[in-house]
Amino acid sequence: MFRLDGKTALITGAGSGIGREIALLFGKQGATVAIGDVNDQSERAVANEIIAAGGTAMAVPLDVTDLGSAETAVRDIVGSTGRLDILVNNAGIGLVGNLTETAPQDFARLIAVNVYGVYHCAQAAVNQMLQQEPKGGAIVNIASIAGQVAVARRFAYGATKGAVISMTQSIAMDYIDQGIRCNCICPGTVETPFVEAYLQKYHAGEIEETRKQLHARQPLGRMGRPEEIAPLALYLASDDAGYVTGSQMVIDGGLTAR
Ligand SMILES: NC(=O)c1ccc[n+]([C@@H]2O[C@H](COP(=O)([O-])OP(=O)(O)OC[C@H]3O[C@@H](n4cnc5c(N)ncnc54)[C@H](O)[C@@H]3O)[C@@H](O)[C@H]2O)c1
Repeated sequence: MFRLDGKTALITGAGSGIGREIALLFGKQGATVAIGDVNDQSERAVANEIIAAGGTAMAVPLDVTDLGSAETAVRDIVGSTGRLDILVNNAGIGLVGNLTETAPQDFARLIAVNVYGVYHCAQAAVNQMLQQEPKGGAIVNIASIAGQVAVARRFAYGATKGAVISMTQSIAMDYIDQGIRCNCICPGTVETPFVEAYLQKYHAGEIEETRKQLHARQPLGRMGRPEEIAPLALYLASDDAGYVTGSQMVIDGGLTAR
């Protein structure tokens, strides 16, 4: 179950955190994995980890804010494997602030990475998925519960993740007859370098105390782990999820059930 043998997957932002864990699992389950990240060093390290474990992987330079970069990445992957079956739009950045605290340049940067990033990579991938034989593929977008419900002082972040959920539904419906499925995952708080960066930027001097509070704030009493998100991405990307499209899958330790 949930094997990806013979499939090629591009995972954006896979040099770290959730994307890295998805890449490692996809490699283990038989996919040829393309690691796309702005950080060349970490994308190469993850590709090497997959290869060292006996899998097949390549590092592709990728800045998701640039459509040309996304198109080049897809062209390079297809040049080497012949097709692209799976895209995981995982690259994303965060920002803390309510409406009046959010500066225009910060808002623009979040839209550039989190919204344009999904648009660029999905467009490049869907163009390829429509022209290959057999046609089709699976797209998994990493959204957030912040796109579904209001999380305090995540004005810009929530807006971008709401857009990711909406793009997921549009893509799912527009290409449903062409064999392309598109779903998103909405994690709660997951302990990754993303959260570390948040702690250092906004809570320097009280990092351990704030980390404890972050754990305690979750109904399950702890933050999620990247390896608890990756299996859902694997399922959604696999043929076992053939009847699943346009869905928002929540993994949040119970947060939105409160
Ligand atoms: N960690 C959480 O609590 C959490 C919760 C919900 C959703 N998410 C989402 O999950 C995704 C991954 O988050 P993470 O916690 O693993 O983050 P992370 O910071 O550990 O990793 C993000 C990766 O994206 C890369 N990246 C950033 N900008 C890029 C760009 N322009 N082009 C290509 N790559 C780029 C970074 O280099 C990094 O390797 C993000 O979309 C994030 O919004 C995270």
